[in-house]
Amino acid sequence: MAKMDTTALFNLSYGLYVLTARDGEQDGGCIINTASQLTQDPQRITIYVNRQNQTNELIRKTGVFNVNMLTTSTPFSVFQHFGFQSGRDVDKFAGRTDPRSENGVRYLNEHCNGVLSGKVIDALDYGTHTLFVAELTEAFKLNDEPSLTYDYYFKNIKPKPQPKAKRGFICKICGYIYEGDELPPDFICPLCKHGAADFEPLV
Ligand SMILES: Cc1cc2nc3c(=O)[nH]c(=O)nc-3n(C[C@H](O)[C@H](O)[C@H](O)COP(=O)(O)O)c2cc1C
Repeated sequence: MAKMDTTALFNLSYGLYVLTARDGEQDGGCIINTASQLTQDPQRITIYVNRQNQTNELIRKTGVFNVNMLTTSTPFSVFQHFGFQSGRDVDKFAGRTDPRSENGVRYLNEHCNGVLSGKVIDALDYGTHTLFVAELTEAFKLNDEPSLTYDYYFKNIKPKPQPKAKRGFICKICGYIYEGDELPPDFICPLCKHGAADFEPLV
């Protein structure tokens, strides 16, 4: 019988990025781990973005985005700011002075070692997520700090859980604790929107 240990997916060596987008006066952005190069000639990149994210909506409307490549200096607060709340509830760029690249989209010049600007040429619907294929319109480096990997985030940036609940399940992505004896199979983490498969029982 085929084995199905979905924790094996954590062995994929993802990076972590702030994906920024814009629609008119509205600037937005979210954390993603799913950015990669598709082809070199011409230069094309892909991103996969949850359809519930406001950033998905902004990209669908305007077709442009920036992938901000995070570095190992990134504090947890950047994940809380861009990854644990939606631009539908808070203005993530209020009071910030982040510069804009050629496409008019904000980019981060702190905790970020480079920026890739994409112009969408294809948007494929995969249920929960949209796969955006984009032409690279601009690319630049900001510094030589090491890029942040998912593994580094788990080991060094995400605070270690200090479970107080006796019975419950903890989200392996962000540390959210669901209290209860059984986790509903369709449960979605209210903080980072990952599903039940990314939870493990508290010990
Ligand atoms: C470590 C981490 C990785 C994430 N990876 C992704 C991802 O690859 N794709 C995605 O759509 N959302 C991902 N998210 C969730 C979004 O960043 C989150 O739902 C965000 O609040 C959406 O904000 P928005 O509604 O302003 O776009 C991730 C969150 C965290 C903390």
